[in-house]
Amino acid sequence: MRVAVLISGRGSNMAALIEACRRSDFPAEIVLVISNKPDAKGLETAAAAGIATKVIDFRGKGSRQAFEDAATEALEDAEVDLICLAGFMRILSADFVGRWRDQVINIHPSLLPAFPGLETHERALQAGVRITGCTVHFVRPEMDNGPIIAQVAVPVSNRDTADTLAARVLRYEHRIYPLALELIASGRARLVDERVIVDGDIA
Ligand code: GRF
Repeated sequence: MRVAVLISGRGSNMAALIEACRRSDFPAEIVLVISNKPDAKGLETAAAAGIATKVIDFRGKGSRQAFEDAATEALEDAEVDLICLAGFMRILSADFVGRWRDQVINIHPSLLPAFPGLETHERALQAGVRITGCTVHFVRPEMDNGPIIAQVAVPVSNRDTADTLAARVLRYEHRIYPLALELIASGRARLVDERVIVDGDIA
């Protein structure tokens, strides 16, 4: 399966996906990394791994359409089957999500449907939850919404700040995102009636 990763910044989840794809038996390869920010650190990581990178930097009025048209062209040229959003900070339109229906997945640092959107960890701490986590899901037009592929629960400590909690959750993000990609790319996870069925799931 040919995969593109969309990033806006650091790219540590992208790096975890690149690392997983190095395994000779891994059923996916990353053929393109797109950033909407020219200074995204992850671009250097991708280039160092020998992966093609593209910056699509449009701002201001009409920029969403311009970004999405350019992205779709690049993704089609690269014959991409699946798009992984990894710290990608632009909202994608319903048109784009429809064009790539069931071909876009995202990682979010909470146990969705709890705490979608920004400042996730601050809000989790504010709410006083004892457990948070991370979620990989298929992308639908509503932000941080869509059929769930994989989740990990992560405990919250009394001493946590948003930063310490983010760091703890991130370690699990790096494990769960490659796992979710492997499930999809190998065909072991399938969408049935807007829910993901995983072969061999014993729950
Ligand atoms: C991650 O916590 C991801 O879940 C969230 O943004 C952060 C991106 O980090 N959407 P990185 O760019 O993958 O290092």
